Amino acid sequence: MRGSSRWFLAGVLAVACSIAGVLVASVLQPRVAPHVTVTPVVVTVTTTSTANPVAAPAPVTSPGINLAQFSTDDPGSIWVVVNKQRPINPLDYEPRRLTDLVVPGDGGAKLTREAADALNAMYKAAKADGAPFLVSSGYRSYDLQSDVFAEYVAASGRKAAETFSARAGFSEHQTGLAFDAYDPTGCQDNACFAKTKSGKWIAAHAAEYGFIERYPDGETATTGYIWEPWHWRYVGVDLAQYMRGQGIATLEQALGLPAAPDYS
Ligand code: DAL
Ligand code: ZN
Repeated sequence: MRGSSRWFLAGVLAVACSIAGVLVASVLQPRVAPHVTVTPVVVTVTTTSTANPVAAPAPVTSPGINLAQFSTDDPGSIWVVVNKQRPINPLDYEPRRLTDLVVPGDGGAKLTREAADALNAMYKAAKADGAPFLVSSGYRSYDLQSDVFAEYVAASGRKAAETFSARAGFSEHQTGLAFDAYDPTGCQDNACFAKTKSGKWIAAHAAEYGFIERYPDGETATTGYIWEPWHWRYVGVDLAQYMRGQGIATLEQALGLPAAPDYS
């Protein structure tokens, strides 16, 4: 081998050894997991309505019930409040859909479907408990209320009639949400109804079916009417149970409306 060839071979070997060394060092290098710090991230989701940037007033709420969820003005609302200061609007309002009652009575009584379903169910339960009642009146049109009021005025005088009968346009019977009950033994449109088996049963169970006694004893200064233990008003189970549970006597107090002792 000539001298130059020897030097060439030595160079090649040196380069090969260097490459092999690097490769071996790479394979034998301990594999250390990269140091990872996991920081918990708390994501706060804030929903913002861009469609209505002006915040709506907070609804009036009470434990378990939103007292602003239904209108107190719309005569089609189960929470409409009709009294001597709050005529039905429009005055000649007629409910869109009325349903016959299966409850016996003077015949032809109807209520809005939701109220009728509740009353029919309540009647079934009362009958099963041996306390059946009858219904003398449900929905009354503006004209019928006008006749009813005129009859009471003729019979008792205007001053007395105003204490238990509403002027046309001011009766919640026109909403199709109220009914008058009476007892099979004959007590009708009288405080004696509260003492009958039927009257006691309704007073004890009405809230379970969504009804309230609309003109309670001792509340004339708020309702404008004498005690009418026969007159029941559908407001739905939630509000009826809420009023009962909280001991709230009148719809005006429950819904934060002014007392209505008289007409303006
Ligand atoms: N008896 C109630 C007040 C009415 O006439 O509607
Ligand atoms: Zn009535």
